[in-house]
Amino acid sequence: MYFEWKNAYELGVEEVDKQHNKLFRIGRNLSVLIQTTDILTNFNEIKQILGELKSYTIEHFSREEQFMRDKGYPDLASHIMEHDFLRKKLLKIDRLGHPNHETIVKLVSFVSDWISRHILISDMKIRNYLLREKD
Ligand SMILES: [Fe+2]
Repeated sequence: MYFEWKNAYELGVEEVDKQHNKLFRIGRNLSVLIQTTDILTNFNEIKQILGELKSYTIEHFSREEQFMRDKGYPDLASHIMEHDFLRKKLLKIDRLGHPNHETIVKLVSFVSDWISRHILISDMKIRNYLLREKD
């Protein structure tokens, strides 16, 4: 199962946590789908949720970037560069044409791992910054 939510992902920043939760929800739906059916029999549905995952991730990234800007977060530029990396990958999904099942599984697994790591390492730095600023 990909996109499994862990409490460790909680930043304690409500609006960002809500968005991460929604992102994982979409990812889990996709994960269940690709593990119970395959792209040949369920092409439209898989493509549709994959599209949802892509557009919501991109939307979430811009909202998170705006949030960091609003809070005067000092490492904004490098955080945006990280987002850019995944954004570029996600935008390539449209060019996949008719991918096979393995390609989809690899992609979902990659995005799931990337986002988990990104939250634990980079998004946590936002949390730490906000906690420091509070004092
Ligand atoms: Fe982020």
